[in-house]
Parts: sequence; structure tokens; C-alpha cells
Amino acid sequence: PNKVDAICCIGAGYVGGPTMAVIAKQCPHLKVKVVDVNKDRIAAWNDKCLDNLPIYEPGLSEVISETRGRNLFFSTDISKAIQESQMIFISVNTPTKTYGVGRGMAADLKFVELCARQIAELANEDKIIVEKSTLPVRTAQSIKQILSAYQNGCQFRVLSNPEFLAEGTAISDLLNADRVLIGSEDDELGKRAEEALVDIYSHWIPKERIIRTRIWSSELSKLTANAFLAQRVSSINAISALCEQTGADVDEVAHAIGMDSRIGSKFLKSSVGFGGSCFQKDILNLVYLCRHFNLPEVADYWEQVVHLNDYQKHRFSKKIIDTLFNTVSGKKIAFLGWAFKKNTNDTRESAAIYIADELLQDRAEIHIYDPQVSEEKIFSDLEFLQNNRREYHLNNTSRFESIKMDRIRKLVHVHSDPYAAMHKAHAIAVLTEWDEFKTYDWQRIYKDMLKPAFTFDGRNILSKKMLDEIGFETYNIGKGE
Ligand code: NAD
Ligand code: UDX
Repeated sequence: PNKVDAICCIGAGYVGGPTMAVIAKQCPHLKVKVVDVNKDRIAAWNDKCLDNLPIYEPGLSEVISETRGRNLFFSTDISKAIQESQMIFISVNTPTKTYGVGRGMAADLKFVELCARQIAELANEDKIIVEKSTLPVRTAQSIKQILSAYQNGCQFRVLSNPEFLAEGTAISDLLNADRVLIGSEDDELGKRAEEALVDIYSHWIPKERIIRTRIWSSELSKLTANAFLAQRVSSINAISALCEQTGADVDEVAHAIGMDSRIGSKFLKSSVGFGGSCFQKDILNLVYLCRHFNLPEVADYWEQVVHLNDYQKHRFSKKIIDTLFNTVSGKKIAFLGWAFKKNTNDTRESAAIYIADELLQDRAEIHIYDPQVSEEKIFSDLEFLQNNRREYHLNNTSRFESIKMDRIRKLVHVHSDPYAAMHKAHAIAVLTEWDEFKTYDWQRIYKDMLKPAFTFDGRNILSKKMLDEIGFETYNIGKGE
């Protein structure tokens, strides 16, 4: 294999940061550099106080404190990192396009393309380029085309090595990966590059869990894995609506079907809708690819997963408005949670953003508490949605008006004390499954709220029995009466 003793990763985000930190931990002989154009992000990664790391992830600060300054370095000097490294991971963001051709559907690959150009311009020796970002099938082809156009005498090999970590469990997912997937080109140089990457992972991943495929299969497997996972959530969420109409209980149904080893019990938790930076983006990307390759039936099939997710979010907001006597205008609604799932400060595509938007359309006053998400982030999420609404919604909400930010700032309040957020509220909506919500003093909260005191548990984490006994009017996803 190629000799590799220095690697770098372009993109110090939710994937680049934790992934490189774990490689540095498991491979002390490797020099690992993580670079980014975002100066603030790099400064936060270098912050002496580990509470200030740019992302919150259980176990991350321990890995950083062990490796940073030893063989893990964060920097904004991208050129130097490219020149020093024999292997370069590209882990930049690949969001849904918000403009032009493929707007609202296709992946925006401009950041990936920029990386390829920068590598080609600066390379002074042969390099292995590793696609870590999630990309449409055949992106490796485009990267190669750019690299080879520079003709600077260097050999470039492109590998696909998609990342399967989930946020909130990133460190344990990386340390105990179900599998590592490496796609390479089927020639001598491709195989040598593949061997060099296998060498790195072999330091802690058992050989049988390292899968080698052709490059197109690897690229497509990442989109497919996320589509299947999201499809399970949409499937159980579809059943949750039927449970509510029929008196069935979605958690009982999930348990009963999950015991079938062919179905399996994971990823069957009904919720207010899936969020996160990946599921919706990757399915839309898949749908776009299918349309591009003239497979409209396949495209429509997968698009339904996103439609159903929009429906689930809309159903929840509508339930709140309907239950509160058909208007929330001027009413105080407390949100417990803003992150798209527990144990992360990431809010991208969080269901909470859409629920807030729909309630704001009905003129609610929203009081938010989340243990990890900053006030600034919450307002920027709401602002982003106001500016991009039509691209991001497939159904229902295109009739919504954009709301001006000064109005949003009047109606939305962010609290650092959960009890203050719920003080004199008309209703509480649980939107993230943070464990601490279960241990609150619900008796005290009830006393402090307006009556009737409503709870809408979008995660089914609070004991309905306990809340009913205290006197709350409770709504749970998928629990029919
Ligand atoms: P992110 O937005 O957190 O991080 C991306 C970083 O890349 C940003 O800090 C940005 O400043 C930087 N960047 C963009 N263009 C750059 C350039 N030209 N040069 C240097 N830096 C640049 O994104 P993320 O969540 O880490 O996701 C990265 C990729 O990994 C995406 O393709 C995503 O689909 C994929 N992925 C994400 C997850 C996840 O859980 N977040 C899991 C698996 C795969
Ligand atoms: C996902 C994939 O799991 C991961 O493999 C991929 O690399 C990136 O995308 P992530 O988005 O970080 O990871 O979190 P995940 O645990 O998959 O949750 C996604 C969303 O689905 C969250 O909003 C979560 O609350 C929701 N979800 C998940 C459910 O509503 N029910 C479930 O049973 C599981």
C-alpha cells in the first residue's frame, strides 16, 4: 500500500471533527489535521476549555483532550494541510440546493468541487482523496475529472468512504462501527489506495467489518442506508396516525412487530417527525437522481417518506391548535427541546422548527428550553426557514406567509430555566427526548400552568399515567383512547 503517515480532513463539522479525533486516538502514529474555512469553528475546536467545543457529543471532549496537540491538530491553513498529507478526507457539507437547477432536491456540491480544485492546484505529490461527505452516485467521477484536468504530474486516487455515525452517539458509533465501507476503483492504483485506508481502520475495526466495494456501490449505499432508516420512521409514524383513530397504541405495535427478527426492534420509535441534516437531504438527493435517470416510479416511492414526515409534523401542530379550541393566538406554548434528537446541539431540520413555524402562523407565543441549543441558533433556524420555506416543504405549508424577524423576536422567547419556560403556559410540547425532562417536578409545573393544562408529548417519553393523575390534559403520539 501507499505509505501514509499524515492525513488531513477538509471540513471540521459534525462528521470531520469526531471522525478525525477517533482516528487520531486509535492511530497515535498518524499525524491528523482537521482544517476548515470557518475561523470561529477552528478556534472553538482549539479552545482550552473543552466545554466550548463547537459540537456537543458524549465522550468527545475526552477523546479531544487525549489527542489534541499530540497527533490531532485543528487549523485554518488548508493549503499547508493539503501539501503535508498523503491522504485527504473531504468532509464538507453537501446541503440541498436552494437555487437554480435542482433547487429543493439535488445536493449542492459546490463545496466539494472547491476542495477538489484546491487539492489539484496545491498538490506536490501523489494523493489519495477520500469522499467522507455524503454524495450522489458518480461524484467520484466529477472529482477525478477536475483533478486530472490540472496535469501537474501527480497521481490522484479517489476512494468513497461514507460515514454512518449518528449524532449523539458519534464516538461510540465510530469506535464500534457496525461496518466501515470503502469503495475504490478497480485497478492496481485503486487497490493500493484502498489498502492504505483499510490499514488505518484495521487499528480498531475487525477486518470482517471492513467492506470493500466498487466505488459506485459505496456512494449509493450511503444514500440507501439513510433512505431505509428514514423509511422505517415514516412507516411507524404512518401507523401512529391510525393508532390514534382506532384505540391502538403505537409503542405496543412497534414492540410486537419488532420482536420479529426479520423486522428488528430498532428505529421504530414513533415521533413528531424525523429531523437532522441527513435524512431529508439524502432522500431528496436520491429522488432527484432517480428522476435524472428516468425512473419516476422509484422517485415517487422514496419521496413519500418525506411527504409522510411533513404530514407527521403538520399533524402534531394541528393537534395543538385544534385542542386549544382552534386558536393559539396570544397563548403561551412551552417547548421542551429544540435539537433534532437528544444528546446533540444540532438543530438542522429539527421538527421543532416546523412546529414553531406553524404555531407562529397562528400567532402563538413560544417559550423554548433546550439544554444544549443557544438562543442565537434558534433564531437563525427560524430565519432560515422564513427565507427558504418554499424549497423545503413538499406539501401543505406553501400557503404560509413569511414572518418578519422582528415579529418572531417578539413572539419567541428562549429560556435557560425550564420552569420559567413553562410558567403560566397554556400548553407544553415535548419535541426532543432529552432524559432530564422525565425527572422534572411535574406536580410543580402543573400548579404553575394555566388550566386546563395541556401536554403534547411528541416523543412519548413522559408517563401518561403520571400526568393524567396530576390533572394534565395529555396528548401522546399514536395512543388511541
Ligand atoms: P457541517 O456543516 O457540520 O461541517 C462541514 C464543514 O465544512 C463546515 O464547518 C464548513 O465550514 C466546512 N467547509 C465547507 N466548505 C469548505 C471548504 N471549501 N474548505 C474548507 N472547509 C469547508 O457538516 P457535517 O454534518 O459534518 O456533514 C458533512 C458531510 O457528512 C455531509 O455530506 C453530510 O451529509 C455527511 N454526513 C453527516 C452526518 C451527520 O450526522 N451530521 C453523518 C454522516 C454523513
Ligand atoms: C442518521 C443515520 O442514523 C446515520 O447512520 C447517518 O450517518 C446520518 O443520519 P442522525 O441524523 O444523526 O443519523 O440521527 P438518527 O439517530 O438517525 O435520527 C434521525 C432522526 O430520526 C431524529 O430526529 C430522531 O429523533 C428520529 N428518529 C430516529 C425517530 O423519530 N424514531 C426512531 O426510531 C429513530
